[in-house]
Amino acid sequence: MKIVFATNNRHKLEEVSQILGPAFTLLTPADCGLTEEIPEDRDTLEGNALQKARFVKERTGYDCFADDTGLEVAALGGEPGVRSARYATDGHDHAANTALLLKNLGGKADRSARFRTVIALILGGREYLFEGEVRGEITEVEAGDKGFGYDPVFRPDGYAQTFAELPAEVKNRISHRGEAVRKLAEFLRTGIDNK
Ligand code: IMP
Repeated sequence: MKIVFATNNRHKLEEVSQILGPAFTLLTPADCGLTEEIPEDRDTLEGNALQKARFVKERTGYDCFADDTGLEVAALGGEPGVRSARYATDGHDHAANTALLLKNLGGKADRSARFRTVIALILGGREYLFEGEVRGEITEVEAGDKGFGYDPVFRPDGYAQTFAELPAEVKNRISHRGEAVRKLAEFLRTGIDNK
């Protein structure tokens, strides 16, 4: 089965492709001749994921899915949330985002947080949403050099290390994105088995 993943991020494409397995061929928007920037200016993860999936479906005609992720920190009222990529600046400046997060959390006793991923799928003219989350805490200082984004300051519940210290296999097994993608994979496989 061919399906478009509405992302231009090669790293994500490979990660998701591995979880979905060989029954699925993932195409990028570029593979379908779509070179326009895909918009994501909604104020929720669900809104952004749907916006991206609809944009690609309308322009390519292919069934497709899109994801959006945010870090939601309880003591900051769910911030940075949908603005996670652009928390400190307009660019995707991971170092500045992490520094601002630690500054804004300074002195707060509650450091609980969660990563949440929403995947929107458009298949056979219908829309579906899948969600994954991982709960944890924001550490006082950065630790580790693996992963990306807020990984050096996110310690998942039940672990002594941050996502940036844990091996990639462990992160993928327990992560927000891993859970959402596995739900998508199960749904797609069941659909295929029933055809
Ligand atoms: P995206 O929707 O997957 O592009 O994620 C938006 C932003 O959330 C990224 O720019 C990162 O700052 C952050 N983020 C998403 N996933 C992760 C993760 O697995 N670890 C750390 N930060 C993440």
